Amino acid sequence: HKVLVLHGPNLNLLGTRQPEVYGRETLEDIDNGLYEQAALGGWEITCRQSNHEGELIDLIQAARLDGTAAIIINPAAYTHTSVAILDALNAFDGRVIEVHLSNVHKREAFRHHSYVSLRADGVIAGLGSQGYRAALDAVMAD
Ligand code: DQA
Repeated sequence: HKVLVLHGPNLNLLGTRQPEVYGRETLEDIDNGLYEQAALGGWEITCRQSNHEGELIDLIQAARLDGTAAIIINPAAYTHTSVAILDALNAFDGRVIEVHLSNVHKREAFRHHSYVSLRADGVIAGLGSQGYRAALDAVMAD
């Protein structure tokens, strides 16, 4: 029972980056909570952040081969641009949950389209860091 959490570009700045949009919690705060939650559920979890599209793709490709059952991904700005991340996720057989801290549908039009949603089994937006916790609960309930 293994889950991979991927955070895309600029999410390393959480806590100080537009806190009115993304909240005051740091990425470390969020990941620490997820590690705790996963441990309670008896799941193995890895949380990774990258500012590089290719590194996110490498991590998704590695998850195909190492028994990862689910990927929880906040692709950040790559959500709206990356056919390559969509293709990598399409090659992954497990569950995919897409998470956005903010409600992207309430924001600029360019944030309304998600390539990743063409693959995601579930999408959570606008719940802040609670979205990751809800996604992990859903994965572990499976
Ligand atoms: C985001 C929304 C994206 O539009 C934006 O580029 C991000 C974060 C979110 O979590 O709300 O970097 O994915």
